[in-house]
Amino acid sequence: MSQDFAHPDVVLCPHGPMLVRGATSIQDADGTVHAVERPVVALCRCEKSSRLPWCDGTHKLIPR
Ligand code: FES
Repeated sequence: MSQDFAHPDVVLCPHGPMLVRGATSIQDADGTVHAVERPVVALCRCEKSSRLPWCDGTHKLIPR
């Protein structure tokens, strides 16, 4: 069964990253395009990751 990834699925994790399923590339706020090589990637929303634009789990250390 083939899947149409023309419109990636997006899930916002409360107090965490944005999960994107089915993207082939991600463009960050600076306009840099990052290739996506995984079925699902986690994009940082807290801007504290050391691997921007990817989530590295640092959001878990931020007090709410
Ligand atoms: S959302 Fe996970 S490090 Fe920013």
